[in-house]
Amino acid sequence: MPHKQDSEIVIHPLHRTFAAELHGVDFSDELDSDVFDTIYQAITKYGVVVFRKAGLDDARHVAFARRFGELDDVSPYTKLGKKHRLDFEELFDVSNLLEDGSVAPVDSHRSAMNKGNSLFHVDSSFNPRRAGYSLLRAHELPPKGTGGNTEFADARTAYDELPEDLKKELLEKDYVVCHSLYHSRKLASPGSLSDINPEDHFMSRHRLIQPHEPSGRMNLYIASHAHHIEGVSPEKSQEILSTVYKHACQPKYVVSIDWQNDGDLILWDNTCVMHRAAGGSFEGKYKRDMRRATVHDGSSHAWGLNEKGSETRMGSVHATDIRLRS
Ligand code: OGA
Ligand code: MN
Repeated sequence: MPHKQDSEIVIHPLHRTFAAELHGVDFSDELDSDVFDTIYQAITKYGVVVFRKAGLDDARHVAFARRFGELDDVSPYTKLGKKHRLDFEELFDVSNLLEDGSVAPVDSHRSAMNKGNSLFHVDSSFNPRRAGYSLLRAHELPPKGTGGNTEFADARTAYDELPEDLKKELLEKDYVVCHSLYHSRKLASPGSLSDINPEDHFMSRHRLIQPHEPSGRMNLYIASHAHHIEGVSPEKSQEILSTVYKHACQPKYVVSIDWQNDGDLILWDNTCVMHRAAGGSFEGKYKRDMRRATVHDGSSHAWGLNEKGSETRMGSVHATDIRLRS
């Protein structure tokens, strides 16, 4: 049931346990702190918050994202000479477009790398400092009926509902997971990056079970980027990761959100939900121009077990591959 949050804002839950649409936020002006607090409380509780027709342009999108914390940017790519299609380095280009703005053919390197987003993941768990919030905006959507939904999985409820024996083991062992962008890209597009072995590259280390500080609930921090668990055999590592990942991706924990209009905006918290691009018949045919601002995690788990302050970001290595191959 929708309920009134204050005089202006109405919350419509979208799923039994998480995700909500917020109606009545007026983005035409800078948000006052009461409205921002309401949004902050909603994202803390729901993990995913949808704003229909927010209508932000690039500059206001970046400015809104900045209110949540320090922003990540694409400078690791551009420093190596990769051209950025957008005017702001704080906006990640999550479109299906090539640098010149044309639709990427389905057999292009760009499409193969985009496929990585079709597996449930969290943003930037492969970097030393992980992402907290992501704000994804539909700049230009493909025609209605051609797909392109984004799906979300509730990792806090998945933790709550783990089989008791598995939960006990995970809490006792306190496993550390190594995350790699190459791993998920290879999983999603077998045959791509065939000469790259993820183990030759940096991996980011994060605990599998950890508290979600803003809500005080526990979370399963798992993603398609999860390559292995430290300190156990490869077989055991594979068994645990695949059991936990499959558990968290079950349809009962998933909500599929349709993008209805250009200007729709979805805010999510990577430290308590996973997400994925559902794909569709638009691929290779129609533009899907999506732009994402990414907020560095500000919690005490942001750096996991990685070197705090490290400048490493996977994008730089990745950009080199794109330049070599496209
Ligand atoms: C992202 C992402 C999914 C989508 O922006 O991080 O995974 O539906 N996007 O485009
Ligand atoms: Mn993503």
